[in-house]
Amino acid sequence: MIKVGIVGVGFMGKMHFNTYNAYKRCKVVALADHDPRKLAGDWSTIGGNIADKRAAQVDLSGLKLYSPPAELFKDPEVDLVDITLPTFSHAKYAMAALEAGKHVICEKPMGLSLAECDRMIAAARAARRQLFIAHCIRFWPDYKVLKQIIASGRYGKVLSATFWRKSLTPTWSWDNWLLDAKRSGSAIVDLHIHDTDYINYVFGMPQAVSSSGVVGAVSKGGVDAVVTHYIYPQGPHVVAEGTWALAPGFGFTHGFCVTLEKATVEMDCRSGKPLTVHPLKGKSITPKLPKDDGYVSELKHFVDCVAKGRGSDVVTPQDARNALAVCLAEERSVKTGRVVRTR
Ligand SMILES: NC(=O)c1ccc[n+]([C@@H]2O[C@H](COP(=O)([O-])OP(=O)(O)OC[C@H]3O[C@@H](n4cnc5c(N)ncnc54)[C@H](O)[C@@H]3O)[C@@H](O)[C@H]2O)c1
Repeated sequence: MIKVGIVGVGFMGKMHFNTYNAYKRCKVVALADHDPRKLAGDWSTIGGNIADKRAAQVDLSGLKLYSPPAELFKDPEVDLVDITLPTFSHAKYAMAALEAGKHVICEKPMGLSLAECDRMIAAARAARRQLFIAHCIRFWPDYKVLKQIIASGRYGKVLSATFWRKSLTPTWSWDNWLLDAKRSGSAIVDLHIHDTDYINYVFGMPQAVSSSGVVGAVSKGGVDAVVTHYIYPQGPHVVAEGTWALAPGFGFTHGFCVTLEKATVEMDCRSGKPLTVHPLKGKSITPKLPKDDGYVSELKHFVDCVAKGRGSDVVTPQDARNALAVCLAEERSVKTGRVVRTR
């Protein structure tokens, strides 16, 4: 049984709390947050762009409740610390937990700079502990199956691929940190990184990016909307759009349309239409998807890795660093109007 301590009881902390509690190989034993209401079980102020009908008042009896995260890191019962704090705090607290001898799951994005990522990787190595970065789209059923379809070679090479992730403006975060580019890294680094990471996963890191976007429309100094062409000189042609500048009524959607030599594969979570393969010849097919959602599948995988004493073969800390490296290149491309190399 892996014993988990969650640090940061917000949108993702709550999501992870509920996910761990449904998996028999782990148990949440401790929580840390500096908001006393959260530790009293009043989770009514937690927002997010995914509807959640669960109770706003949560029974936390039996859990150890800490305010400064450092107190939780000292708890000998905790094997695995899950950092679901705002992004600007990831490096500081992930490193402290590793140095205290804990394995760490840290939400994406890994950090705000490549230097922070490098320090986190070095801290995990020095402490001989596992560090996992929660790039959940690698585990998301439709995206998992899309990768399998592409890798199978059944429909030939990918010719072109378009991905999108569009959200109402996130006004729900603690201290409004999401809309402060210095603390969240903006829509590119916070939201659109899901697609950038998946594109790296499936097609490898692009040689360069060419991006345009909208700066400072809804956030303090950040890129709020971006369209990027990921440049692969030998193909495929890959484009992704990410925005959090949409009106509240829009809600949230994500999806893709991928054209291979012998089929087109599409998914848009908003349309309610499942992942569908349209072969050049024959009828359209709707492949069976894994039943666990991306959060469940991701956290089960990380817990199993800790139980087996190994790192993840799905997402490594270096992969997470690479995702940030491409996002930072996209940001530079938006701000300079130039094509920017990714390494
Ligand atoms: N994988 C995904 O799909 C996904 C979705 C949303 C957010 N995220 C990521 O999860 C992380 C958290 O985002 P969120 O939306 O849950 O944020 P949030 O604002 O909803 O919650 C943050 C929580 O951390 C607490 N906190 C802040 N600083 C603290 C400190 N120093 N000590 C103790 N508690 C502190 C706040 O009180 C709050 O409860 C971010 O990195 C974000 O990018 C990932």
